[in-house]
Amino acid sequence: MKTIAVLTSGGDAPGMNAAVRAVVRTACENGIKVYGVVRGYNGLIKGDLIEMDLRSVSDIINRGGTILYSARSKEFATEEGMKKAIDTCKKFGIEGVVVIGGDGSFRGARDLSERGIPCVGLPGTIDNDIACCDHTIGYDTCLNTIMEMIDRLRDTAESHDRCSVVEVMGRRAGWLALNSGIACGATSILIPEVPFDIERDVIQRMRKTMLTDKKHFIIVVAEGCEINVHDLAKEIEEKTGVESRATVLGHTQRGGYPTARDRVMATKMGNYAVKLLMNNIGNRVVAAQKEDVVDYDIFEALNMTKTIDMNLYNIAHEVSI
Ligand code: F6P
Repeated sequence: MKTIAVLTSGGDAPGMNAAVRAVVRTACENGIKVYGVVRGYNGLIKGDLIEMDLRSVSDIINRGGTILYSARSKEFATEEGMKKAIDTCKKFGIEGVVVIGGDGSFRGARDLSERGIPCVGLPGTIDNDIACCDHTIGYDTCLNTIMEMIDRLRDTAESHDRCSVVEVMGRRAGWLALNSGIACGATSILIPEVPFDIERDVIQRMRKTMLTDKKHFIIVVAEGCEINVHDLAKEIEEKTGVESRATVLGHTQRGGYPTARDRVMATKMGNYAVKLLMNNIGNRVVAAQKEDVVDYDIFEALNMTKTIDMNLYNIAHEVSI
């Protein structure tokens, strides 16, 4: 391949810039022309591309967000949108595309690959919900951001003998909630993968710990549980007598400078993706398994299901009491 493109798509995630940098630098070092596509698949539809060189990606390894901007493109899901994107690839001589994003972005990469433009997907999402991948780009940073914010909530909850109910992101997955809940010593962790009962899993657990003189509490709720955390805080206050406050961490979780783990993983994955394209291998998803980087067929990757670590869930249940 002589010319490739790189784009970021879906919700931004810390470490996406490190991945873009690795893609651009690997391509340049191997004599491949590389374009940055602006605003995900929308940029491919509109022909909004920038030719990148070694210096276009200087000083971005430490930055959150994505210098290429991101979008969730509805038009790309239409035949018309797809046709325009393919026309852009032809116009710029693009023979392969590296797509950095989540499973929605991979579906786009699969469709583009099916129509003759080989794509390689890099898992970039805070949700850690890509089945073939242990740790997605952005997950570690987000987890640490949540931990820092819950630590702050703990300070004030402790000072006022309160219960702090915290909603964290993750879309339909409970990875962020489970791991941040453990890292912050939450009394209860509610995740969509495990059926829960507020009376049994929150109220009674709090009452039990109150018998041993516990006076402040952290309850972590994954957004995928679809609970109104403000209502939950009221219910807790009414049933336990503990003054309660709810906090939705929201988009603060997506920003900030990436951790070393995310930067290193993004760099390894970006480099790997270009090597696949250099060998004319497309229609793949790159994944991190333990400390290794591997790749899967996109169809296969999209059909895999990720299950929550029940051992970890049970440890949390046993220890945070
Ligand atoms: O997929 C990343 C994510 O931050 C999810 O955790 C969350 O549900 C969603 O994106 C929010 O999307 P938006 O930024 O479009 O509101």
